[in-house]
Amino acid sequence: MNRSQYLEKKSVSQLQNEASTGDHMQRALGPIDLITLGIGATIGAGIFVLTGTAAAKYAGPGIVLSFILGGIACGFAGLCYAEFASLLPIAGSAYTYAYATLGELVAWIIGWDLLLEYALGSATVAVGWSGYAVSFLKDLGITLPPSLTAAPGTSVVLSDNSVVTAVFNLPAFLAILCVTVLLVVGVRESARFNNIIVAVKLVVILAFIGFGVWHINSANWTPLIPPNTGQFGEYGISGIVRGAGVVFFSYIGFDAVSTAAQEAKQPQRDMPIGIIGSLLICTTLYIVVAAVLTGIVSYKSLNVADPIAVGVNVVGLKWLAIAVKIGAICGLSSVMLVLSYAQTRILYSISKDGLLPAFFSTIHPRFKTPHITTIILGVFVSFLAGLTPISTLGELVSIGTLFAFTVVSAGVLFLRYRQPNIYRPFRCPLVPWVPLLAIFVCLYLVFGLPQETWLRLLVWLGVGLVIYFFYGQYHSLLNKEPR
Ligand code: ALA
Repeated sequence: MNRSQYLEKKSVSQLQNEASTGDHMQRALGPIDLITLGIGATIGAGIFVLTGTAAAKYAGPGIVLSFILGGIACGFAGLCYAEFASLLPIAGSAYTYAYATLGELVAWIIGWDLLLEYALGSATVAVGWSGYAVSFLKDLGITLPPSLTAAPGTSVVLSDNSVVTAVFNLPAFLAILCVTVLLVVGVRESARFNNIIVAVKLVVILAFIGFGVWHINSANWTPLIPPNTGQFGEYGISGIVRGAGVVFFSYIGFDAVSTAAQEAKQPQRDMPIGIIGSLLICTTLYIVVAAVLTGIVSYKSLNVADPIAVGVNVVGLKWLAIAVKIGAICGLSSVMLVLSYAQTRILYSISKDGLLPAFFSTIHPRFKTPHITTIILGVFVSFLAGLTPISTLGELVSIGTLFAFTVVSAGVLFLRYRQPNIYRPFRCPLVPWVPLLAIFVCLYLVFGLPQETWLRLLVWLGVGLVIYFFYGQYHSLLNKEPR
């Protein structure tokens, strides 16, 4: 095998040609669909669950600052994604951008890494969804057998304090199967469903802000940054930074917009609108929700699975408490939907390039969706969700995403240097500073994650390399006839 193949790149014009001629998917998505796609993938377990933990354990009311920090970090990466997504509107996202700038091997590694962000992300959120769904059904008087509500081996504590060992997380499993059916049936149907559930979650969040703001007791905000306990990350400035690392999970997903490039009506114009628009909306909502939440209750009482519901109890509106649960269920549903959607489009792109078998890019003649890849992924992720506990998954999702953001930001710099004069419909401002800052912040957050997580990432990438060296490099279609 010719070693230079590993570094071989796709030219920008070749990719642009593929984007305009090579696909058979339906161009059904406008700018609003793309913004809702971004919001759909972004607002979920992060704001509904992690805000409380991060405020109670690390940042106190300063969690607002953590969200601002996280938003700035993702904003830098988002601007880099926007430049690439308008220049190379192909479904492969970071994978495609790496193929154009850093060569085939890095592209494959990033494509493989993105499974951590999207497939694993979707499974993680399904487990969170299951928790909310089980509790909501209980409110309605429907109790599922406890042994079927969590990953095997998990101890489920019942209301009479007896303990049952779970064997399977059935709601999480079924949730991913439903998402899979929607994704097979069509992008228009999925987008319509997504628009509806995004509308519900936004209404619920706005209702929480609207009612909550009248119950703020400014004493809860004082001090804004509780003094550090002497341990790194427990309040003080280091607590704000650690809080930002935790709430980074809330921002994951805005980049999923870039995987819809081949189904966007006008990708050059609308990709940056979708990415930056959804990021701005989510960042604003997160900051306001965090401020209201820590204003109405003491941060000390927020280390629970449903912190927003704790806030609502202070407001005293029973219907709002139920609405928050519905909002969380809708929020997590759309995150699963969009992350799974994004994953199928990336596998589609990788298979189009020959690095995965051709059936991954087969398009259904009537539904115009990559149905085989969607079904394979659906089965894999649903079992993952049914069988795996949530705790270690989350950190792997974060490290995988940070790695992808770093490569995309480096890619922007590289292409500006190598091909400064190609027409870029959207230009990331202040280059090289914005991409450099994106890289710096992402790496900083990676180093804040536990070392076991780095090791797991390395093992995962090692498995990916084995697949490339045994399959991908021999089947790559670069510089051969396209399929
Ligand atoms: N950002 C997504 C969430 O918070 C992954 O659920």
